[in-house]
Amino acid sequence: PDDGESEPWYPTPRGGTVESWKDAYKKAADLVGQMTLVEKVNITSGIGWSMGMCVGNTGPVDRLGFPSLCLQDGPLGLRFVDNATAWPAGITVGATWNKELMYERGKGHGFEAKKKGINVILGPSMGPIGRLPAGGRNWEGFGSDPTLQGIAAAQTIKGIQDTGVMATAKHYVGNEQEHFRQSWEWGTPNAISSNIDDRAMHEIYAWPFADSVRAGVASVMCSYNQLNNSYACQNSKLMNGILKDEMGFQGFVQSDWLAQRSGVASALAGLDMTMPGDGLKWADGNSLWGAELTKAVLNTSVPMERLNDMVTRVVAAWYQLGQDDKDEWPAVADRGGPNFSSWTDDKEGELHPGSPNSKETGVVNKYVPVRKTDESGDHDALARKIATEGIVLVKNSDSMLPLNRTGKGVVYKAGTEKIKVGIFGEDAFPNPNGNNACEDRGCNVGTLAMGWGSGAVELPYLVSSWETLKANFVEDRYEVTQWRYNDDHEGAASMASEQRTCIVFINSDAGEGFLSWDGIKGDRNDLHPQKNGDALVKNVAEHCENTIVVVHTVGPTILEEWIEVPAVKAVMIAHLPGQESGNAIADVLFGDVNPSGRLPYTIAKKEEDYGPSSGILFYPNGIVPQQNFSEGLYIDYRYFDKHDIEPRYEFGYGLSYVDFKLNSLVVNTRGSIGELPKGRPKGLKPPKMDDSLPSPESALWPEGMRKLKKYIYPYIDSTSDIKKGAYPYPRGYGRAHELSPAGGGEGGNPDLFETAVVVQASLTNLGDIPAACVVQVYISYPSNVTDTDGEPVDMPVKVLRAFEKYYFDEPKRVPVKLELTRRDLSYWDVKRQNWVIPQGEFTLHLGFSSRDLPMQSTFSTLL
Ligand code: NOJ
Repeated sequence: PDDGESEPWYPTPRGGTVESWKDAYKKAADLVGQMTLVEKVNITSGIGWSMGMCVGNTGPVDRLGFPSLCLQDGPLGLRFVDNATAWPAGITVGATWNKELMYERGKGHGFEAKKKGINVILGPSMGPIGRLPAGGRNWEGFGSDPTLQGIAAAQTIKGIQDTGVMATAKHYVGNEQEHFRQSWEWGTPNAISSNIDDRAMHEIYAWPFADSVRAGVASVMCSYNQLNNSYACQNSKLMNGILKDEMGFQGFVQSDWLAQRSGVASALAGLDMTMPGDGLKWADGNSLWGAELTKAVLNTSVPMERLNDMVTRVVAAWYQLGQDDKDEWPAVADRGGPNFSSWTDDKEGELHPGSPNSKETGVVNKYVPVRKTDESGDHDALARKIATEGIVLVKNSDSMLPLNRTGKGVVYKAGTEKIKVGIFGEDAFPNPNGNNACEDRGCNVGTLAMGWGSGAVELPYLVSSWETLKANFVEDRYEVTQWRYNDDHEGAASMASEQRTCIVFINSDAGEGFLSWDGIKGDRNDLHPQKNGDALVKNVAEHCENTIVVVHTVGPTILEEWIEVPAVKAVMIAHLPGQESGNAIADVLFGDVNPSGRLPYTIAKKEEDYGPSSGILFYPNGIVPQQNFSEGLYIDYRYFDKHDIEPRYEFGYGLSYVDFKLNSLVVNTRGSIGELPKGRPKGLKPPKMDDSLPSPESALWPEGMRKLKKYIYPYIDSTSDIKKGAYPYPRGYGRAHELSPAGGGEGGNPDLFETAVVVQASLTNLGDIPAACVVQVYISYPSNVTDTDGEPVDMPVKVLRAFEKYYFDEPKRVPVKLELTRRDLSYWDVKRQNWVIPQGEFTLHLGFSSRDLPMQSTFSTLL
């Protein structure tokens, strides 16, 4: 990949090839069959930035009852929406390792979206995957491993889509850093090129997208960056090849906002919808599609067949999710559609705020309650549960935790009447300017509940740790004092020396590149706690023998400056908890909930330990900044394992207040586990469409139509420049690409998802309190794997392939059962272009983290 070449892959595979979408495609084909050319184009193009109520709005086809679709951020809740839940961020959800909570959060998120009139949620995020520990948006996704990321994404998507709202798997793919993700924020002529080799693409970066497609995701968002020197939103190998052929994606691809960089090329490469509709610049009223797509179809530079497929994909997704149900999704005319405005909090406001000549106003915010209604259930409570389970306890010496809120049995410090507890650090307190003081949460002031950018939301409220801790410690036994200044060391020291217990709050923030704070332009500049966090902890610990540290963070944080200090007795990585922050801390601190979170990434001892290619490219190294993913498969724990580097806390690690034990591992293979999957199933024939061209006159502006300035319309001004002709198609267009043997179903060849190995064991809670434990399965491949030419194939030391969280109320011992599929055992063979199971002896490891794997068994794939 170092020369960054992307293979051509044409033409775009049509949707409608899998059984589970058959009905939706039939209905869609019927409806699209009745549409005119301009009506079709209207569905593919956003109407322009801030022309409607949502961050993305498509053009409607009123005549046939197809609505303008409302697309709204983002992965952790509803951006720019009133009274919606500020859920824990993706990284927190990943840290729960709890599949049910992943699903329930998705469902809650979807429920709220639907009640607000949102058709498409712009989430979950599974790219960036976390290749670069300092990547600004890693926190929007679920952690630095494809299996964890893929399972969490699929569960989230199922949850969202079970409510009838479409989910979006984003960002496809390789947007691993914010710097140079596109040109205009960074003053570079072009976006960065992520140069990813074919194998790493399959085994790491595209993997969670395959899981998302398999979960039935309705939409995929292509990313800003270039992939092997071809923009992701016009990269035919990515969209036509990997996504639509190999993964059998049936929904539609939408561009990230202004990520589309060409009109015809993007259409031919497999883009189905452009967002927000404006072309190369924000809100300039010029689109690369809209009228331009109409022309391109009329002059045959985009085949009508391609346009029909684009539109049918969007309309099929709408049917697939049941959004044609008029009771559930009333038409805009019947007071349906979005009942909030992204652009104002006032009740009344402009209907097309982006247009200079529309002053149309109306009721735009109806303030519909969604968090806690009879129908929704208690989303606040659910958010709290997730935030609590997303806390990872990494250190707990002398059984410092849990704390005793009543003070019973606590030995008093001589000479004091009450037990003194000090709460230190700005992160324990709310932002004095208000929870939503900074645009899209683009500052690190007060307690850190989420990162910043389009993935952030307005907090309906935010429970700070100070509030809950103060309220929890029983007043007649405890004296709780506060120190909120991270910079005044003398003051902190003198207060610390008075305390029996000190709880120090520190944090580390990051976000999306359109905002920067304190010199952090999206990506973090380093992995240390921010705002003098290290100094604060060291200072307090020097004066207080029972110091507890709470870290709110977007990702891996280096703890070395104080982690081994004996007075630092307990450390909790509390991630990004959302609105319920303080309650979650209290739940774990006082032992109401036994901690069960596990790290969704590795915490290194020093930044270099993540490897030579793990740093952000902070300065452009060319006209197209090049970033070679030269480490291949070896990110996060795969890198630490390969180079035998001892992490501070490994991927998958986390403590409980009890210990667990695994016994009686039994591993059985099932069915055929020969090298290759069965042949690709044929799949259904896509519905028949009429691909003939209408007359150019039919696409002219309707007479007397009032035009809104800057609004994106599908109509053309004149027919004089429409010339059908032999337009040069991209290289490789002429000959239909061979179909992949790895395709044939949603997510890939269905045989890849057949169970190949069943793992059974039993798990015992050795403590006498309720607990939860994440059991993790890693596999090691046979040694000396070679390809068809006898050349060695490098294999990671081990890879996570399955996990499950088990709960103990009573029985002390529970049965463990996990399954691995053919895909789980396979590697991507770049020569055969297929998933291949190496023949030989595999080792299966069962345990509690990537470095704590007490049980092992082998199984053979040799016949
Ligand atoms: C750009 C971000 O990259 C994407 O994640 C988001 O959905 C869109 N903006 C819309 O806000």
